[in-house]
Amino acid sequence: MVKVLFVCLGNICRSPVAEAIFNKKIKDAGLEDRFAADSAGTSAYHLGNPPDQRSVSNALVNGVSVDHKSRQFTGDDFSEFDYILAMDKDNLLHIESMAKQLGLIHQGIFLFCSFQPHSEGQEVPDPYYGGKHEFQKVFDVLDDCNQRFIKYLAETHQV
Ligand code: 4NP
Repeated sequence: MVKVLFVCLGNICRSPVAEAIFNKKIKDAGLEDRFAADSAGTSAYHLGNPPDQRSVSNALVNGVSVDHKSRQFTGDDFSEFDYILAMDKDNLLHIESMAKQLGLIHQGIFLFCSFQPHSEGQEVPDPYYGGKHEFQKVFDVLDDCNQRFIKYLAETHQV
């Protein structure tokens, strides 16, 4: 089983939606015995909380149901997950500095947008202080990145 962890700041807006889109696409492709996903936040701001209602309702409009409880990223996640996908550069830095502190080398840490072509440094924008439009924009980016990432997984893990 290849395990994927999506990471944002609060684990209530971007990463739970990324996880839900990934799991839906994997299920639709009949690959749920090969790939599984979870999500976490680099902060503890919303520990134990459900996803942001704006993310949940926007995802539902797009046919994706989101069900998660916010948790914080921990050192154990480095051994638990094959891929750790950061939504933005701050989260990426946080993850990389934790790995460094723990003396770990992990080959599967990426900015999620790095799976898009010509994506140098591109991030999934933080919608927390935004309006409806921002939540749909985030959904579209997450959907596109997931499509490309799953194609990469299928090629890399011989599906
Ligand atoms: P997320 O969005 O990282 O995509 O879950 C945010 C959620 C909460 C906060 C910031 C971003 N906050 O500052 O509480």
